[in-house]
Amino acid sequence: MRLKNGLSLNGRRMTSQFAKPETVSKAELYANLQSQLRSLLEGERDFIANAANLSALLYHSLPDLNWAGFYFVRGVELVLGPFQGEPACVRIAMDKGVCGTAAAQRQTILVADVHEFPGHIACDSASNSEIVIPIIKHERLLGVLDLDSPLFARFDDEDAEGLNELAQIFVDSIRLESDL
Ligand code: SME
Repeated sequence: MRLKNGLSLNGRRMTSQFAKPETVSKAELYANLQSQLRSLLEGERDFIANAANLSALLYHSLPDLNWAGFYFVRGVELVLGPFQGEPACVRIAMDKGVCGTAAAQRQTILVADVHEFPGHIACDSASNSEIVIPIIKHERLLGVLDLDSPLFARFDDEDAEGLNELAQIFVDSIRLESDL
């Protein structure tokens, strides 16, 4: 399968239409994304701009995603932030769905089959698996990063680790009003 950035799910990079695929492990893929993200965010501290670029980078680089984006804490709920994919539900209560659960527990949640997750909120009927990463800066919960896939069990511990590292680069890049 060919990917948007020339990578395939089984870790093969197509260097040209006719070139032999080159094997790329998930670890290599995430290491590559880390350096791309650092370059992309360099010199920019804006929360929304950097969240928008991270969601675009993920959506166009990771295989088999149908949605990638943010929900931000707004009072007692989560509100839709920058994303790529189909239009999505705007507000999620703090303990509802996969996003609200990850936010309330401040933990990464991997869901192999969203139809089995109690209270899963189906924004896009194409989604079958999901991963949600809490975004925390200086102990303060800012929101969550949510990725959906049409494949079952698309995400594993390596994705959780790689995405947490990318989320940390994003968190380190931004300046909040409280930091000023
Ligand atoms: N499925 C999420 C809702 C957000 S969408 O997937 C974009 C949830 O259960 O919280």
